[in-house]
Amino acid sequence: MVGRGVAALLLYFAFVGADEPTMQYDTIVIGLGSAGTTAATTLARAGRRVLALEAQDRIGGRVNTVQFGDGVVELGAEWIHGTRPSRVYDTAIKNNITVLSQDLTMDAYSSDGRQTDKELVNELVEFCLGQVENSTNDNLPLGDFLTKKLKEHLNATKPSILQDEDFMENFLDLMDQIVGNYEGSNSWNDVSTFTHYQELDGDQHMSWHRNGYKTFFELLLNTYQGGPGLANLSIKLNTEVTKIAWPQKPLTPVEVTCQNGEVYKANNVIITISIGVLKERYTTLFTPSLPEEKVLAIQRLSMGVVDKVVISYPNKWWPNSNAFWFNQTKQERDKAVKDSGWVTYFGSVPFGSSNTLTLWYNGDAAKLVETLPEDVVKRKCVELLQRFLGANVTVPEPTGMHRTTWFTNPFTRGSYSYDSVTSMKYPNSRADLGRPLLDSAGVPKVLFAGEATDLTHFSTVHGASDSGYREAMRLLPNRQDIKQAIDNLKS
Ligand SMILES: Cc1cc2nc3c(=O)[nH]c(=O)nc-3n(C[C@H](O)[C@H](O)[C@H](O)COP(=O)(O)OP(=O)(O)OC[C@H]3O[C@@H](n4cnc5c(N)ncnc54)[C@H](O)[C@@H]3O)c2cc1C
Ligand SMILES: *[C@@H]1O[C@H](CO)[C@@H](O)[C@H](O)[C@H]1NC(C)=O
Ligand SMILES: *[C@@H]1O[C@H](CO)[C@@H](O)[C@H](O)[C@H]1NC(C)=O
Ligand SMILES: *[C@@H]1O[C@H](CO)[C@@H](O)[C@H](O)[C@H]1NC(C)=O
Ligand SMILES: *[C@@H]1O[C@H](CO)[C@@H](O)[C@H](O)[C@H]1NC(C)=O
Ligand SMILES: *[C@@H]1O[C@H](CO)[C@@H](O)[C@H](O)[C@H]1NC(C)=O
Ligand SMILES: *[C@@H]1O[C@H](CO)[C@@H](O)[C@H](O)[C@H]1NC(C)=O
Repeated sequence: MVGRGVAALLLYFAFVGADEPTMQYDTIVIGLGSAGTTAATTLARAGRRVLALEAQDRIGGRVNTVQFGDGVVELGAEWIHGTRPSRVYDTAIKNNITVLSQDLTMDAYSSDGRQTDKELVNELVEFCLGQVENSTNDNLPLGDFLTKKLKEHLNATKPSILQDEDFMENFLDLMDQIVGNYEGSNSWNDVSTFTHYQELDGDQHMSWHRNGYKTFFELLLNTYQGGPGLANLSIKLNTEVTKIAWPQKPLTPVEVTCQNGEVYKANNVIITISIGVLKERYTTLFTPSLPEEKVLAIQRLSMGVVDKVVISYPNKWWPNSNAFWFNQTKQERDKAVKDSGWVTYFGSVPFGSSNTLTLWYNGDAAKLVETLPEDVVKRKCVELLQRFLGANVTVPEPTGMHRTTWFTNPFTRGSYSYDSVTSMKYPNSRADLGRPLLDSAGVPKVLFAGEATDLTHFSTVHGASDSGYREAMRLLPNRQDIKQAIDNLKS
């Protein structure tokens, strides 16, 4: 027995010795969104040598702040959803960066430019969103559940509204779209009432305004206002990973191959690519192939789509408001679908510039808008804004447009994950996705982070960041581990 132990130890040192000159990195992080940037900077700040490989030409992933209008706009994530406990919010506050609360109560306009009753609509929206939070036990399609709750509520409090069929049809359609904007779903009946999602305490719509969400990444990376970065973190942009070889033999490196032919080795790798990209690539990305548990998790989790069209004007001309609902009759909505294939329901006012407006799309409408020629999209959007918001002013020509393509983008393939009606059947999918692949000695070799792996805060920037931190900590010895190791040595 003793002889075998010594032999194993000698083998261990032979390996470590042999690998040391070539093993440039401790950890390779794939993807520099919120999860990857948090993981990479946490490890590098602890002195680990980290290589981060990012396929796109920028850091941020599903956060993308761009210069636009007279400031910045967010093409991806826009708000900090809740402040306690939030790594994102804390990072801003610790660095004295102001964030501003944005009230997104909707003003409602009809196609002739008149304001319609927004009090009642906002009150009923609040009621429905409140029900969503209280609905975690049964597995019902969310739309059916909310319709039932709303009807009971109106029957008890405002029975005449329940009799107004046009109003009800219009409001239920609006609520379907609001759910779609939260979830990225196509229909509110694709979404389940069963979910482990938890809202953080505090304000749900804190904006980075003119700082931009990109500031979060600059602060993590120590590049804010010309900061020098982190000594132990190497970043390669425009570097798409195509292969991850993870031999199960202990002490053999993980080998990561890139589209450009480069090959990198490290002790372990943290993968942060979206569930949409994993669905498309998991069969070719890994050698050996992923275990069944992981494959099933990837197949079972749902990826939603939310897109924006942001338009700039020479100056602000629209009514004072942070959010608009374009209240259309059923006939108008049917006509919009017939004419152009989609209906525009919502607009919001970016907090990072004064002369831009955002229109929102989700589900199939978003996928369609992504594929149309830009000038077609622009014309339709400009007409709509003119009609609903321009009744009392001369509307200037737009100066520019950004149309997002989160589904078409091969490195995102959607916007964020949501709990679909099948999620209750597979309640462990997120945990299964987040569990590391181990070598035959039980040491984590391939680790998984990213929004979709967070059990309670998936679909958000703070959830993604938490997941990156979680996986970094898996690789860092904590005091408890060290104490245990010393105790073991003593005994
Ligand atoms: C339109 C929109 C609005 C949103 N609004 C909000 C909001 O207001 N608040 C909020 O909290 N959240 C919001 N979200 C969600 C939030 O943006 C995401 O949950 C979060 O940013 C995901 O971070 P991540 O690190 O998990 O993944 P990602 O940001 O997707 O990072 C993964 C990275 O991996 C890279 N990658 C992919 N494949 C490869 C490869 N083969 N090789 C190398 N690199 C690769 C990608 O380019 C990407 O940079 C929004 C998202 C969208 C799209
Ligand atoms: C990073 O690596 C260098 C050696 O290149 C080391 O001297 C330094 O202490 C490390 N930095 C941190 C923050 O750990
Ligand atoms: C933030 O502001 C406080 C008070 O002005 C100051 O003491 C602190 O050093 C600042 N912190 C950073 C990170 O700039
Ligand atoms: C949620 O449920 C709790 C307990 O039943 C109740 O007190 C609360 O009012 C409910 N919230 C909403 C928004 O209905
Ligand atoms: C409405 O409320 C009354 C009692 O106030 C009840 O008898 C009736 O069944 C309710 N209708 C619906 C559709 O819930
Ligand atoms: C939408 O506008 C119409 C008037 O065009 C109004 O009758 C209706 O109540 C509005 N819908 C809602 C849900 O407020
Ligand atoms: C236009 O002016 C009317 C009358 O003041 C007002 O009711 C309406 O809300 C305005 N519409 C817009 C789009 O500003």
